[in-house]
Amino acid sequence: MENLLNWFEKRLPVMNAYKKHLSEYPMPKNFNFWYLFGSLAMLVLVNQLLTGIWLTMSYNPSAEGAFASIEYIMRDVEYGWLLRYMHSTGASAFFVVVYLHMFRGLIYGSYQKPRELLWIFGMLIFLVLMAEAFMGYLLPWGQMSYWGAQVIISLFGAIPFIGEDLTLWIRGDYVLSGATLNRFFALHVVALPIVLLLLVVLHILALHEVGSNNPDGIETKLPKGTKGENYQTQFPFHKYYTKKYDIIDSVPFHPYGTVKDLVGVGLFGILFAYVIFFNPEMGGYFLEPPNFEAANPLKTPEHIAPVWYFTPFYAILRAVPDKLAGVVLMGLAIVVLFLLPWLDRCKVRSYRYRSKIHLANIVQFTISFIALGVLGALPATELYTWFARVFSFGYFMFFVFLFFYSKNEATKPLPERVNYK
Ligand code: HEM
Repeated sequence: MENLLNWFEKRLPVMNAYKKHLSEYPMPKNFNFWYLFGSLAMLVLVNQLLTGIWLTMSYNPSAEGAFASIEYIMRDVEYGWLLRYMHSTGASAFFVVVYLHMFRGLIYGSYQKPRELLWIFGMLIFLVLMAEAFMGYLLPWGQMSYWGAQVIISLFGAIPFIGEDLTLWIRGDYVLSGATLNRFFALHVVALPIVLLLLVVLHILALHEVGSNNPDGIETKLPKGTKGENYQTQFPFHKYYTKKYDIIDSVPFHPYGTVKDLVGVGLFGILFAYVIFFNPEMGGYFLEPPNFEAANPLKTPEHIAPVWYFTPFYAILRAVPDKLAGVVLMGLAIVVLFLLPWLDRCKVRSYRYRSKIHLANIVQFTISFIALGVLGALPATELYTWFARVFSFGYFMFFVFLFFYSKNEATKPLPERVNYK
C-alpha cells in the first residue's frame, strides 16, 4: 500500500498539496467569528453548483417554456421545490456571507501589503458573482426577471458612441427576448461558474502564499530565525511551513480550523434551513412578488427594484440625475474597492490599534452602505433621492478621508504577540 502511495505521490503530489493547503496550514490562534465566512462562501458555492446542475435537468431555457418549467420544478419534480429554494436562498446567502467576509477584510486591514493580490482576486470574485446572480435572475422569466434585466441592460445604452450597439450585442435582439435568455443561460450555467471556480482557487493559492492575517493584524509567519519556535516545538511533525518560516501563535488547520469551521457550518445550516423551510421568499427580498407572474413585455411592473444585494449600488446610480454620470459613479463605487490596498497608507492593519478617526470612518461607511441598500429598494421619491445623495457622498468620502489621514495616523502600539483567550 505504501509503495503504491509513493508511486502515486511521485507522479502527482496530492498528499503534499493536502498538507500545504489543508492539514498543515498554520492558522493564527486568535481567529474569531469573522473568519468563518471564507469557508462558508465555499460551502455556498458548492451548494449553488450542485443544486444548479439538478435544476438544469428540468429547466427549459426558452422564452416560451422557462416560466412554466420553474412551476413544473416546484410542483411536479421530486424535491424540485427543495432544489429551487436551496438555489434561490443560496444566491442571497452567498452575498450575505461574501459581504461579511469583505467587511472582515476591511476592519482587520487584510487587504494591506502583502495581501493586495489576494484582495484583487476577491474583488474579481465579487464582480463575477454579481454577473452570475444578475444572469441567473433572468432565467425564471418572471416580470421582475424581465424588467430588471431591461433596466440594467439599458444602462449600457448611456455610454457615448457605442452604447446603442453594445445593448444590441448584449441582448442579441432589438428587444429583450428568447435570444437574451439563451445566452444568459449559457453564461450562467457554464462560463461564469468556471471563471468563479478558477478565481476561488487563485484566491486560496494567493492566501496560502502570504499566510492569513488575523484580528490583531500582526504577522505570525516570520522569516527563519526571527522569533521563538512556537509552532515548530508544539507541532514538530508538521514540517511544510516551518522549513521556510518561523511560525508563531498558530495551530495546524486540521483539526483546529476544520472543527472551528464546522461550528460555522452548523449555525449557518440552521439559518439556511429556517429560510428554506419556513420563509423561502423572505418577505419578498429573496424572491420578489412580481416574479410569480410570467414576463410580459407589454406590462411594466409598478415598482422595479433589483434584488437586495444590488440595491446599494443601484441607489448610487439613481442618486445622480444624469444617466451616464450615474453609471460612471456606480462603476466607480466598485473600482475604489479594488484600489483599497493603495488608498490605505497606514502601516497598522487592524482597527483595534488604529485611530478613533479610522473607527469613525468605518462606522460611517457601514451606515452609508446599509442606508444605500435600504434606499435602493424603495421608490425614488425626491426625499429618498436626497438621502441617497448624502449616503453616496458618505460612501465615497470613506476612501477619500482614508487616503489622507492614513499617511500619518496616530496608531496605538502593536502587541508583540497576538491576543487570545
Ligand atoms: C466565492 C467567494 C469567496 C470565497 C469562496 C472565499 C474564500 C476564502 C477563504 C476560504 C479564505 C480563508 C478563510 C478566511 O479568512 O475566512 C479567504 C480569505 C480572504 N478573502 Fe476570500 N473568498 C471569497 C470572496 C472574497 C471577496 C469578495 C473578497 C474581497 C474583495 C475576499 C477577500 C479575502 C481576504 C482579504 C482574505 C484574507 C483574510 C485574512 O487573512 O484576514 N474574499 N477567502
